[in-house]
Amino acid sequence: MATDNPPIYVIGGSKGGVGKSLVTLALVDYLLRMDVNVVLVETDTSNPDVMKAVHDEIECGSCDLDDVSGWIDFVNFCDLHRDATVVVNTAARSQAGVARYGGTLANALDELARRLVVLWVINRQRDSLELLLKFGATFPSAVTHVVRNSYFGAPEKFALYRESNLRKAIETQGRSLDFPDLADRVADELRSQRLSIRKAAETMHLGERAELLRWRELFSMMFAQLTPASRRHG
Ligand SMILES: Nc1ncnc2c1ncn2[C@@H]1O[C@H](COP(=O)(O)OP(=O)(O)O)[C@@H](O)[C@H]1O
Ligand SMILES: [Mg+2]
Repeated sequence: MATDNPPIYVIGGSKGGVGKSLVTLALVDYLLRMDVNVVLVETDTSNPDVMKAVHDEIECGSCDLDDVSGWIDFVNFCDLHRDATVVVNTAARSQAGVARYGGTLANALDELARRLVVLWVINRQRDSLELLLKFGATFPSAVTHVVRNSYFGAPEKFALYRESNLRKAIETQGRSLDFPDLADRVADELRSQRLSIRKAAETMHLGERAELLRWRELFSMMFAQLTPASRRHG
């Protein structure tokens, strides 16, 4: 399969509150700092939090993946921005739409000449893993990484995942990554002010900013691990 164009990163996890939006914000920040041309697809149409935070900085498109028309828009958006890395923030509820219409994208990936890279954000519950199995069936050609969100505890607390066959399957083609925990008061300020990380790094008070930069350093190391690994599978 030709994959000459920049990848499409889908930040999934299906469930609400696992940290998809925060991981998406972090990935956009990381790519911008690496001078990557990046565009956002916001599929959380009822709460487009990531789009609100980054629309001043990058081109954004919004589409509802519960609807076949949204998938068509999505494929066209990727086609229109061939030179850009596409980052997709997904909504908690889009699971049914993925199962039903995800094939639209799967079929178009070859022609788009893009790799699909999934970052599946998990908490410590079982359903995070079950939902990934279902999602994976729709995109067998995707490279899938699992992101343990440290907000829910240190990596060693993700015992279910650690003991699972799913982890072995993930690690034959992708990685298990650890997304760092950000102090609640800083995370809350990001969220309530709808700040991008770049903006927050410019405007927060010194104490908050110091914590933000500590966290940024850690998530940048996490994303740096992922870039060469996914290239190998290109
Ligand atoms: N690593 C983290 N550090 C600090 N707060 C986090 C982290 N991950 C998630 N949160 C908090 O948990 C809540 C849900 O995160 P969010 O990214 O909106 O999840 P989702 O998009 O999956 O619904 C937010 O208030 C967010 O700030
Ligand atoms: Mg979200």
